[in-house]
Amino acid sequence: MYKHAGAGWSIRPFTAEDAGACLAIFRDCLTDMPWRARNRGQYLILRRALAPPNAWVAVEPEAGVIGFLTIQSVQDYIDHLFVDPDWRFCGVARGLLEVARQSATGALSLDVDEENLGARRAYEALGWQVVANSTAASKARQMRLVSP
Ligand SMILES: CC(C)(COP(=O)(O)OP(=O)(O)OC[C@H]1O[C@@H](n2cnc3c(N)ncnc32)[C@H](O)[C@@H]1OP(=O)(O)O)[C@@H](O)C(=O)NCCC(=O)NCCS
Repeated sequence: MYKHAGAGWSIRPFTAEDAGACLAIFRDCLTDMPWRARNRGQYLILRRALAPPNAWVAVEPEAGVIGFLTIQSVQDYIDHLFVDPDWRFCGVARGLLEVARQSATGALSLDVDEENLGARRAYEALGWQVVANSTAASKARQMRLVSP
């Protein structure tokens, strides 16, 4: 288990009991992402992705689940990374990505919405590199990033 000694949270594998808390964090985060409001399928996609052994949660004793990550393990592709707005800038995303990196066979990759400036800055701070921009043919305007 990954534990942040100073901040008191830790990271463990996702279990079915965590699904409600993860969906609540996802819903909270989406309120700051108006460009995703019409994406009705995204809750179903998240429900499918939240399955052991391809998901982890960050938990704090008082607050419960404070963040989560899901990965498509064959491609080492991160398809969700969401941190409770009250727990941002505490290293939770860094910790979740580190745990995912340890389980991966190579570099991690993900797609970030072009409008998502906060996440883009976070990945930049973490040393991720842009390897491709969305093409005109793709539905969402996203950037493909790879981990250091
Ligand atoms: C992006 C997100 C996952 C970052 O989570 P977090 O737990 O706050 O990130 P961390 O605390 O681990 O920060 C990692 C680094 O990124 C930086 N960072 C994080 N958010 C940032 C922001 N909005 N602006 C600038 N830098 C940021 C931190 O300062 C830190 O860098 P440092 O170590 O040099 O100080 C979180 O803001 C979030 O859940 N956003 C909404 C959902 C989302 O956009 N997910 C990504 C989808 S691709």
